[in-house]
Amino acid sequence: MPARQADRQDSSVMVDNLTACQTGGPPEPAKNLKGKDLLSLAEFTPAEIKYILDLAAELKQRQKKGKPQTSVLAGKTLGMIFQKASTRTRVSFEVAMYHLGGYALYLNANDLQLGRGETIADTARVLSRYLDGLVVRTYAQEDLEELALYADIPVINGLSDLYHPCQVLADLQTIQEYKGNLVGLKLAYVGDGNNVCHSLLITAAKLGLLLFIATPEEYPPAEKIIALARHIARQTGSHIEILNSPAKAVVNADVIITDVWTSMGQEAEQKQRRKAFAPYQVNTELVKHAKPDFIFLHCLPAHRGEEVTADIIDGPHAAVWDEAENRLHIQKAILSLIM
Ligand code: CP
Ligand code: NVA
Repeated sequence: MPARQADRQDSSVMVDNLTACQTGGPPEPAKNLKGKDLLSLAEFTPAEIKYILDLAAELKQRQKKGKPQTSVLAGKTLGMIFQKASTRTRVSFEVAMYHLGGYALYLNANDLQLGRGETIADTARVLSRYLDGLVVRTYAQEDLEELALYADIPVINGLSDLYHPCQVLADLQTIQEYKGNLVGLKLAYVGDGNNVCHSLLITAAKLGLLLFIATPEEYPPAEKIIALARHIARQTGSHIEILNSPAKAVVNADVIITDVWTSMGQEAEQKQRRKAFAPYQVNTELVKHAKPDFIFLHCLPAHRGEEVTADIIDGPHAAVWDEAENRLHIQKAILSLIM
């Protein structure tokens, strides 16, 4: 591992071809992203996060203008280990690799020897000999971290029980597109204190944003994530409030964000969760408290009639399809910078 860390510190030069799709060139702190894992976003500086967002916006513009995609990842292969279902994450990473000239390999965790007891460490060592990067969707964040520890290639969190960092980057790109900026906006998250909520906490803290969260008392964000976010927020000036009242959280909100009430792996709790979360539905009544031009975000998949009503998610305030599209542009930015 020390050798790997040293390698990474030496990786100060951005891939040459990438400069072709940049407007200016990266700010100094973003130059060392090659080889870096993306496990929670807590490991990224605010400048690096902003750089990923800016590059994603630039790559999106290029695609919209029909400019040729870059071949920045020509000859590179991304492995994608999934222990849970996925539509957006899987497809956006695969297409991103294709657009960047590389190749993506989908690996259902059950088909790997991992499923038959091969250790995470051995899997990481072996895959590092074939691949140039790994996206992993799993349950325990610890498993992801162990894999990253033993892998010689960058590991990207494609969702764990604790975090969903790539999703929240796409959310922030979408907010920037609709609102022109991030700072000074009021973001309100209503629902479960889950992986998406945790990534929102960390990223909002990093970027100095204003974030109000409302969850039922029984389903708050994890204490350790709140503590980490508050610690980061003290350095960045971010304002974070964790409440139980959805109405208070969305007062004057510029952005309302929600997610499913029952995440993957929690299916056995569905009935009791539906009951506890019923007052946290994003519906016409709740959004009356928000600014008239608020936007609504949901990482999807959505359950109309549960966490959000159809008139909101299919209505004029919803930015969810652009949010889903932005997964592609964010993945391209991440991959081109770290691989
Ligand atoms: N939002 C998201 O991660 O969707 P998938 O589960 O379809 O990848
Ligand atoms: N919180 C949800 C997000 C799905 C993309 C889950 O983990 O299932």
